[in-house]
Amino acid sequence: MPKQSSSGTSTGNGAFEVTKVSNLNCIDLSSSDIQRSVSLLKQACLDCGFFYVINHGISEEFMEEVFDQSKRFFTLPLSEKMKLLRNEKHRGYTPLLDELLDPNNQVHGDYKEGYYIGVEVPVDDPEAEKPFYGPNVWPTTDILPGWRDTMEKYHQKALEAARSVARIIALALDLEIDFFDKPEMLGQPIATLRLLHYGGDISNPSVGIFGAGAHSDYGLITLLATDNVLGLQICKDKDAKPQVWEYVPPIKGAFIVNLGDMLERWSNCIFKSTLHRVLGNGQERYSIAYFVEPSHDCLVECLPTCKSEENPPKFPPIKCAAYLSQRYKDTHADLKLYKAERT
Ligand code: OGA
Ligand code: NI
Repeated sequence: MPKQSSSGTSTGNGAFEVTKVSNLNCIDLSSSDIQRSVSLLKQACLDCGFFYVINHGISEEFMEEVFDQSKRFFTLPLSEKMKLLRNEKHRGYTPLLDELLDPNNQVHGDYKEGYYIGVEVPVDDPEAEKPFYGPNVWPTTDILPGWRDTMEKYHQKALEAARSVARIIALALDLEIDFFDKPEMLGQPIATLRLLHYGGDISNPSVGIFGAGAHSDYGLITLLATDNVLGLQICKDKDAKPQVWEYVPPIKGAFIVNLGDMLERWSNCIFKSTLHRVLGNGQERYSIAYFVEPSHDCLVECLPTCKSEENPPKFPPIKCAAYLSQRYKDTHADLKLYKAERT
C-alpha cells in the first residue's frame, strides 16, 4: 500500500505544523511486467486516484522546451495576453482569478493564469461545430516563434502517453486492453492541454486564498507535469473533518496522473477521482496539465465489470460533451465580464 510520511516545520511561535507528504505508486510504462503495472495502478486507483508515471515516451529535453515556451508566453505583457483571451470553445488565455474551482471555500478565483489548447480542427471542418472542437487561438510567430509547433507536438505526444495509461486502466477494470482505444472513447478524444502559471502569491486556506481551489478533474485522466516547486495537495477523504491534505512532491521526468470524475462514474466509484488543490508558497510555479476526455458523443455509463445486483449503478448515463460543458460553466467566469477589457 502507498505509505505516508510526515515531516514538520516549526512555525516559530512554538506551534508545530505537520506537513504530510504522499507516497504514490509509480508506474513504469517501459516495464515488460504488465501484471505488476496493472496491480500498482489498481492499488493507486482504489486508494487515492493519483499515481506517478515514468518512461512515458516524452523526453526530459522536450519537456523542458515546453516549459520554456510556456514561460515565454506568460512573461508577455498582460495587454498581449488579453488579445488571446479564451473564446467560447475554451481556447486561449485565462487570466488571474478567471477560474473559481471551489466557490464555497474561496474568496476570489484561483491565483493562477492559464492557456488552453484543444484538438485543432479547422473552422471549415464540419467537426468544428462540436462544442469542444475548433481552431485554437495561437500567438503570432513574430511574438513567439516556434510556439505553436512545440505545443502541437506536445499535444500529440501526451495523447499517446495517455492512451498507454488508459490501456493499463482498462486491464485494472477487467476490461479488454483496448477498451478506451475505441473511436467513441480515445479514438476521437476531447483532449486539452493547459499551461498554468502561479505567480508567487502565498495561499492562505484559513481566509480562502488558493493557487487553485479544491476540485476534482472532469474527464478520464489528467497527466500533470510540474516544475520542482511544491504546491499540489490531495485530500483522500473529502468527508473527513478536518480534511487532511497531503503534498504530492514532483519527481523529475514523471507525470503525476490522476483520475477524473468521468472515470469515477464509469467505474461506479470503485476508482476514485480525488479532491486536489494548489497552495502557493511565495515562489513562482509552472505546471502543465493535459486533460483527457472521450469523444463528444461518448456515453459515460457504468461499466459492466463495476455493477452487480448488490451494487447497482450510482449515476445515470451521461454524454461526455454535455457533462463537460456544464462543468466548465460552473467553474469559469462569464466571458461577457471581459468585454470592456478587450475593446
Ligand atoms: C488542474 C490542476 C494542478 C497543478 O489544473 O486541474 O489540478 O499543479 N492543476 O497545477
Ligand atoms: Ni486538477
